[in-house]
Amino acid sequence: MSTFSAPRGTYDLIPPESADYLAVREAIAAPLRRAGYGYIETPGFENVELFARGVGESTDIVTKEMYTLTTKGGSRLALRPEGTAPVVRAVLEHNLHRGALPVKVWYSGSQYRYERPQAGRYRHFSQVGAEALGAEDPALDAELIILAVDAYRSLGLRNFRLLLNSLGDRECRPVYRAALQDFLRGLDLDEDTRARVEINPLRVLDDKREAVQKQLAGAPMMPDHLCEACKEYHEQVRGLLTAAGVEFEDDEKLVRGLDYYTRTTFEFVHDGLGSQSAVGGGGRYDGLSEMIGGPPLPSVGWALGVDRTVLALRAEGVELPQPSRTQVFAVPLGEEARRALFGVVTELRRQGIATDFAYGGRGLKNGMKSANRSGAAYAVVAGERDLAEGVVQVKNLDSGEQVPVPLDGVVAELRRNLA
Ligand code: HAM
Repeated sequence: MSTFSAPRGTYDLIPPESADYLAVREAIAAPLRRAGYGYIETPGFENVELFARGVGESTDIVTKEMYTLTTKGGSRLALRPEGTAPVVRAVLEHNLHRGALPVKVWYSGSQYRYERPQAGRYRHFSQVGAEALGAEDPALDAELIILAVDAYRSLGLRNFRLLLNSLGDRECRPVYRAALQDFLRGLDLDEDTRARVEINPLRVLDDKREAVQKQLAGAPMMPDHLCEACKEYHEQVRGLLTAAGVEFEDDEKLVRGLDYYTRTTFEFVHDGLGSQSAVGGGGRYDGLSEMIGGPPLPSVGWALGVDRTVLALRAEGVELPQPSRTQVFAVPLGEEARRALFGVVTELRRQGIATDFAYGGRGLKNGMKSANRSGAAYAVVAGERDLAEGVVQVKNLDSGEQVPVPLDGVVAELRRNLA
C-alpha cells in the first residue's frame, strides 16, 4: 500500500470487475445510437452559476453537494454534479438549436456530488445520459423511456420498475404549488422543513421520514391539478409506453431532486439495492434553456447511473459477457526465442488474435503458469533447440497436446485452430 488511498466516497475500477462498467456503458449507448443520438462531451467542470441557475438554488445538489473552486484567475467553477445543464449550455453555445430539431445527444462520464457516502451513493460516480432538445412531443418522452428500458433489458436486468409522474407546466404548477403550500403550512413540521415549504414545497412530498409522510395523507397532489394541456400530454406519453409494452407505476409523489423538471418525470428503481434504489431518472425540462439565458427550448432526457446499474446486475446475479480474453500466450526460453516469439505475438495481435507474452524471462514453469492463468487456448513455447530446427511448440492448453510448427507458419496455424 502507498501512503495514499482513494478519497472518501470514491473507489477505483480495476480489472476484471471494471469490464462490467464498460459493458454497462456500451449497453446503454447502443440503443441511443440506433435512435439517432450523437455523442457529446462537455468539460468536467463548469461555471458554478450554470448549476445554481439550472439545477436550482434551493436543491440539495446546489446548496450542499457541489465541489466548487476558485481558479487563480478568479473564476468560480464547480465539478459537474450532473450532465443536463452542461449539455444545454453546449447546445446553445454551438447554436445546435438553430439546426434541425430535436437535437438528440448522449454522453457518458463522471459526476461529482459531496454526499454522505453509503452503499450505492458515492461522491464520484458515472452516468450515461441522453437529452433530446427543442421539441415538445409526447413521442419523444416515450422514445427516451423506451430506450432506457431496452438498455436495461439488453443487459439482462429484470427487477427494475419505472415510476412515472407529471409535474405540470408554468401554467398549472404555480397554482398547485400554492395549494400544496397552504396544506403544508398547517402541519406540524420542524424548522428546516417549514423553510422548505416556502422555497421548494414539492420536495416535502419526497421526505422519507415517517412523521412527515403520515401527515401528508390528504395533501393535494399534482395529477389532480394538471391543466388540460398537461393532462392530455401525459395521457399520450402513458399510451405510447403501454403500446410499446413498457410497464410503469403512476407515482404522484415522484418529484425528483432537480428544479428544472416540467411535465413528464420518471425514475427507474431497483428493489435489490436498499435505500439508494434509483438506478436512473429523468424527465422533461421545458424551461431550463431560458433559466440559463437561452431561448425557449422544450426538452427531455435522462441519466442512468452506471455504478448502481452494475450493483443491480450483481444483485440479480446477472453475469455480463467478458471482453475478449487472451487466446494465445507465448513463452520464450532464452534471448533468441524472446525476439522470435515477440515477433509472432505482434503479428498475431495485428491479425486480431488476443495474445500475451511471458515478460521478464522467468523460465518455463513460471511462463506456463502465466499461460494457464490467462485463460488462453494455446501456448506457443520455443527454446534454442526449437529455433535451431526452425520450429516452435504449439500446446493446446485444454488437451495438453503439443506439436511442433514451423516458425514461419505458426501465425497461420493458430488462426486456423482458433477459427
Ligand atoms: P439524477 O436523478 O440526479 O438525475 O441522477 C441520475 C442517476 O444517477 C440516479 O438515478 C443514480 O442512479 C445516479 N446517481 C445520482 N447520484 C449518485 C451518487 N451519489 N452515487 C451513485 N449514483 C448516483 C440527473 O442527474 C439528471 N441530470 C437526469 C436528467 C437528464 N434529467 C434530464 N436529463
